[in-house]
Amino acid sequence: MTRSADVATTAVHVAREDLAGLGLHVPTIDLATTYPMPTIEAGGTAYDTLAAGGSPDGEATLVYQRLWNPGVDRFERAVAALEGTDGAVAFASGMAALTATLLAAVSAGTPHVVAVRPLYGGSDHLLATGLLGTQVTWATADTVADALRPDTGLVLLETPANPSLDLVDIEAVAAQVGEVPLVVDNTFATPVLQQPVRHGATLALHSATKFMGGHGDVMGGVVAGSSDWVARLRQVRAITGAVLHPLAAYELHRGLQTIHVRVRAQQESAGVVAAWLAERPEVSVVHYPGLPGGDPRGLVGRQLAGPGALVAFRLRGGYAAASALLDRLDLVTHAVSLGGVESLAQHPASLTHRFVAADARPDADLVRLSCGLEAAGDVIADLEKAFANLP
Ligand SMILES: Cc1ncc(COP(=O)(O)O)c(C=O)c1O
Repeated sequence: MTRSADVATTAVHVAREDLAGLGLHVPTIDLATTYPMPTIEAGGTAYDTLAAGGSPDGEATLVYQRLWNPGVDRFERAVAALEGTDGAVAFASGMAALTATLLAAVSAGTPHVVAVRPLYGGSDHLLATGLLGTQVTWATADTVADALRPDTGLVLLETPANPSLDLVDIEAVAAQVGEVPLVVDNTFATPVLQQPVRHGATLALHSATKFMGGHGDVMGGVVAGSSDWVARLRQVRAITGAVLHPLAAYELHRGLQTIHVRVRAQQESAGVVAAWLAERPEVSVVHYPGLPGGDPRGLVGRQLAGPGALVAFRLRGGYAAASALLDRLDLVTHAVSLGGVESLAQHPASLTHRFVAADARPDADLVRLSCGLEAAGDVIADLEKAFANLP
């Protein structure tokens, strides 16, 4: 069947093309942890193929859930279509996806990682601790070339970045990295708004827990890239075991069917809320790529189809004001995470970025808001109530 290239049609139908022929309307969920072996030889051959990161061949046994699951494969094919890549590899969480990416990219000869701050606090923490045997040099988008060493195995950036909403020009960084793989955390933008590999990144990484799931009830991670990288990442996943559960894969694949509608509606709401925040006397700065000054490099429209659904803002009353505001919210939930249908607000310095080194940690006056699907006016009313007599 011929399909439109429009993201809406892709999101709804991708990796479901065979269902009607199977007499199905939605994919079946295969919970099997193991599969019968036709013969020792056929099993061994399949084992070799899957453990090396390959795909199952025809009727061959799928061997074992850690090596292959049909529902996980569907979700991966859907993400790859949305990101415009050869393939994708799914993991149990975004952090598992980053861990596997680091393990696949760095080796004894290339333990060095260049990372553009800010990053999600968990990613920053993983690199800062060197837990995986990596060494990190922190850079800005303009100093990546200077930070590279002969033993650099990976360059990592986020755009829009968590929590500052800074935008990084992916093409400008790609021009600096030479042969070194460039990973872009695309969690905030989603493939609806940005496809990093089309702009020169090697891999696009997601916490699928966020917009892909979209309802705050499923955890996952995914990395999209070339066939070669897909094979390497699958091999790492098979060895280290941070697989996505088939039920989670089903939920994430279903979440992708509405991601374009949710992201655009949440973005619309964020634009309204950001403009309202910018007028509030209690607020000193609003970080939102859609506001004047929020996109100094002109990336919205060129790299990013829209400014997204996340807003961050600084309060003149500092930590005390941030703490009071978060305590008083009612409709908006005071919670970490983002990208779901419910609006969430949190204090990055205390929570998501708690373990970031003090000199790189977000300031104590910063609050991050993930706009959900509620009416923007109701989110504003909740904020307005919380702003009354703020310290
Ligand atoms: C930008 C970004 N990347 C990665 C992660 C980690 O994802 P997960 O929580 O699914 O492990 C997060 C989590 O908040 C995130 O915000």
